[in-house]
Amino acid sequence: MAKEINVLFLDDEENILFAADRLLMAEAYGIKTTTDPDQAMVLIGEHPIKVVVSDQRMPKIAGIEFLRKVKAAYPDKVRILLSGYVDFVTAEEAINLGEVFRFITKPWKTPFLKASLTHAIEQYDMVQANRLLFEASERKNKELEALNNKLRLMFEAQKGFTSTVSHELRTPLASIKMAVDMVLAGTTGEINANQKKFLSKAKDNVDRLNRLINDILDLSKLETGRMPLKLMTGDLHEVIREVIEMQAAIAVEKGIFLNLEPAADLPMAAFDKDRLIQVLSNLIANALKFTDKGGVTVATAFMPEHNEVRVAVRDTGLGIQQADFPKLFQKFQQLGDAGERRAGGTGLGLAICLEIVTRHGGRIWVESTYGEGSCFYFTLPIQGKMEGCS
Ligand SMILES: Nc1ncnc2c1ncn2[C@@H]1O[C@H](COP(=O)(O)OP(=O)(O)OP(=O)(O)O)[C@@H](O)[C@H]1O
Ligand SMILES: [Mg+2]
Repeated sequence: MAKEINVLFLDDEENILFAADRLLMAEAYGIKTTTDPDQAMVLIGEHPIKVVVSDQRMPKIAGIEFLRKVKAAYPDKVRILLSGYVDFVTAEEAINLGEVFRFITKPWKTPFLKASLTHAIEQYDMVQANRLLFEASERKNKELEALNNKLRLMFEAQKGFTSTVSHELRTPLASIKMAVDMVLAGTTGEINANQKKFLSKAKDNVDRLNRLINDILDLSKLETGRMPLKLMTGDLHEVIREVIEMQAAIAVEKGIFLNLEPAADLPMAAFDKDRLIQVLSNLIANALKFTDKGGVTVATAFMPEHNEVRVAVRDTGLGIQQADFPKLFQKFQQLGDAGERRAGGTGLGLAICLEIVTRHGGRIWVESTYGEGSCFYFTLPIQGKMEGCS
């Protein structure tokens, strides 16, 4: 197979070119020689030349001038200047200016000439490989940038979509609720027991839909950072008591207990009260929903090793199988059969709790023995750690 022509020699002396040709015959690369600078430029364009070697003293053009022209037309070609010792200053300057890669004095030492050419070819290949790598990484960067932009646009669109849809649903739902409430209250005239039964069902479903829309809206706001925390340092027990009071009637109706076991000397924690109420309400509502005998205990504790307070919502209810633990905090995840679902939830409560607790810099998790009860824990840092708060 013919060798690839990678080296070009330009010299006005035929015997030098002849010597170079013979000397490099056995090398892996092929060489072309010429005495004419114009012809040399043509050859560079025609062959995959990597290295251009030029004599300095020629009648038509000085070697350094010629190599400058090569550099201007083909910046990647590696240039070598060939000359006698008398031109050393010119050569030194050219090397320092980056115009030539090496200076080889005539008469050359054969091993030095060969090593210089091999080195020059390696240099050329390395620059090309780097260029390819650079171009590939540029391309990847551009692709990533485009993908990022697309994701950002999708994210923006989804953000707007969720809140627009939720708001659009809220208005008609409010008027349906008002109408149903009025008819149920007898404002529009007497209704019979059957009508009352159906309307009550409609009212329950309207309430459920309202809760779902609020949950979706909350989650979307939390996930997109549009719900900054309004942090305050406060007494956790006070907030827990407030939520227990709100749900006490459900416990009474089910004939189960709902207690607070407060830790003595619990340090103050920093929290957004409204968001904390949301977390506690859902955990307590869940515990009550899935417990038919025994009851629910909310217990607090100080965890000095992590500098945080821990809240536990413990129940003696259904329990959760360990295999289901990872599913719990995902959106729209409800375990078990439709019977449980009929309990009225949407499966967003724990996903919202996870977002809120995480935004506070805390953790949330569950421990449970199936058939015996569950305990949901969450922590709140006593100081520092919170993110995205106002
Ligand atoms: N204390 C608990 N005991 C047993 N199962 C529970 C308990 N808490 C949660 N779960 C299970 O986890 C599921 C998800 O709870 P989550 O609070 O996210 O949704 P939900 O209560 O069904 O609906 P939502 O809270 O949105 O009204 C529940 O449907 C239930 O299957
Ligand atoms: Mg719930």
